[in-house]
Amino acid sequence: MSGLGLPALPDNGSPRGPVVSLAGLRKSFGQRRILDGLDLAIPAGESLALIGANGTGKSTLLRMIVRLTEADEGRIEVLGEPVRQLGGASLKRFRARVGVVFQKHNLVARISALSNVVHGVQARRSGPRSWAQCLAPKAVREEAMACLEAVGLADKAMQRADSLSGGQSQRVAIARMLMQRPELVLADEPDASLDPRAGREIMELLFRLTRDKGLTLVFVSHHMAHAIGFSDRIVGLAQGGIAMDRRALHCREAELAAFFEEAPVMASAETMAKPVLEALA
Ligand SMILES: Nc1ncnc2c1ncn2[C@@H]1O[C@H](COP(=O)(O)OP(=O)(O)OP(=O)(O)O)[C@@H](O)[C@H]1O
Ligand SMILES: [Mg+2]
Repeated sequence: MSGLGLPALPDNGSPRGPVVSLAGLRKSFGQRRILDGLDLAIPAGESLALIGANGTGKSTLLRMIVRLTEADEGRIEVLGEPVRQLGGASLKRFRARVGVVFQKHNLVARISALSNVVHGVQARRSGPRSWAQCLAPKAVREEAMACLEAVGLADKAMQRADSLSGGQSQRVAIARMLMQRPELVLADEPDASLDPRAGREIMELLFRLTRDKGLTLVFVSHHMAHAIGFSDRIVGLAQGGIAMDRRALHCREAELAAFFEEAPVMASAETMAKPVLEALA
């Protein structure tokens, strides 16, 4: 046990240890308890789909992994780093190792796809030479082109970002994330706001690229077919904790839909109970 009374985490420094270890994680916004003692370990190379009703804390959880949101209590160890203890330069170095893809791709509208991808190198090296592809050193520009090729958009390199479709923009955002050379990838509903085909293609791409590189992927999706098709493991959040944890291979869409029916609606902080739902086990 640690000084905080929390269970000790396994040694993350080992290459076989979990890439993400969360223990006793608690988070409230005002009176509202969002996470109530969540424990989760994600081994290296796993693709994990995080599912749950709106407001169950999926985005909050992803944000806490890179400390964009502060936890109230608990331990967060990611890539061997004690995330809650990091600050300044060490937090910056840590974040550079984690690629994040959001539903909204946040590309710079008025510059080319290639320049947007070049920006991904800023996680590793900053300065004016990472501001645009024309300023970038040859090696950086070539790597950015390779990232665009990896997402199937080499032919759109010089096109302005605001002239790309939603699906193409999300691909550029993935290329920019690859440019970071991440060790862990977090994706919060990368398939939302896209038509069914583009959404599926984005998920296929993320899954394939991370799998090819042996990277750990944690993604949130409201599409149960994507959760099943592109993960090894599906974790369902409800009532402030993990209410379901299953191998994707054993899940069917209808069963996951039932999870949403059966998962208890978020209770108030006063009535919140530790999650006991062993749904579909
Ligand atoms: N910065 C914040 N300030 C106050 N409340 C917040 C903040 N961020 C999130 N919340 C609240 O915390 C709860 C969990 O939010 P979160 O965005 O993590 O849910 P989610 O599971 O990602 O939902 P969705 O499926 O809709 O994306 C929600 O009730 C939300 O309103
Ligand atoms: Mg969310």
